[in-house]
Amino acid sequence: MDLQRLDTFAKEIIIEAGRRIRAAYSYDLEIETKSSAKDLVTNIDRETELFFIEQIKNFDPTHKIIGEEGMGENPKTLEGIVWIIDPIDGTMNFVKQHRHFMITIGIYRDGVGMLGYIYDVMADDLFYAITGEGAWYNETPLRKLRSLVLEEAVIGINAAWVTPNSKVHHEKLIDLIQVVRGTRSYGSAAMEIAFVVSGKLDAYISMRLAPWDIGGGLIIAQEVGALATNLTGQPCSLTESDGFIIANPSIHQHIIDHYLDLK
Ligand code: IPD
Ligand code: CA
Ligand code: CA
Repeated sequence: MDLQRLDTFAKEIIIEAGRRIRAAYSYDLEIETKSSAKDLVTNIDRETELFFIEQIKNFDPTHKIIGEEGMGENPKTLEGIVWIIDPIDGTMNFVKQHRHFMITIGIYRDGVGMLGYIYDVMADDLFYAITGEGAWYNETPLRKLRSLVLEEAVIGINAAWVTPNSKVHHEKLIDLIQVVRGTRSYGSAAMEIAFVVSGKLDAYISMRLAPWDIGGGLIIAQEVGALATNLTGQPCSLTESDGFIIANPSIHQHIIDHYLDLK
C-alpha cells in the first residue's frame, strides 16, 4: 500500500468536494429531515457522498465505503480497505450558519487507522494525519498535547446534555461546567475533535456519535496523544453509535471518573 499516493489522492478529492459544496450556495438547497426535525440532510450531503464514492471506486474498486448517507456498500465489518466518510458534518451549520461544517474521512486497513482528515470547508483548513508519521494543520505539524489541570481546561459540549436527558445524569455535567475555565459548542463533532487535537479545546464530550463522526478524528488523535474512548473509557466502535469523549490525556480519565454518571 502506497500511503503517500493514497494521501495525495484523498486530499485532492476532499479539496474538490469542498469547492463543489461552496459553489452549491449559488443554487437552492433541498433540505429534508431524517430521524427528527433536528436531524437535517440536503441534496448536497448526498451528492458529496456520491462524488466520493465515484472517485474512490475509480481509484481502486476494491476499496469499500461506509458513509453517513448510506450510498456506499456500508459493510458491517472493517475487512480490507474501508473509507469512513461523513460528507458534511454539521449539516445544520451548513444550512443555517453557512460556516463551521466539515468533511471528515478516516481510511482504515483491516480496522487499523491509516489516514485521517477533517476539512473545514468554508475556512479551507485541513487537519490530517498519517499513522506513525504525525499530524498536520495545513502545512504546520501538530504538536503532542501538553498536560493541564481541569481548572485550566476549555471543553466542548452541547448544552442539551446539561439538561435532563435519557443518557447521563446532567447534574454531574453542571459540576463539570462549573469547574472548567470555559465551554464551547460548535455544532460539528468533527470540528470539535479537530480543536481538541490542535489544543484549541481540551476535551469534547457527546452522548451519541456515529462511526462517520469520529472515523477521521480518531486517527489524528492518536498522532498527537489525545485520548478518545466511549464514556466508560472503552475503545470507540467504528461500526456502532456510542457515547464519545476525546480529551487531553491529563484530564480524560478524571472526567470519566468524576463527571460522567451514565444512566
Ligand atoms: C452531527 C454533528 C453534531 C453532533 C451530532 C452529529 P451531522 O452530524 O456532528 O455536532 O452533535 O451528533 O450527528 O448530522 O451534521 O453530520
Ligand atoms: Ca456527522
Ligand atoms: Ca453528516
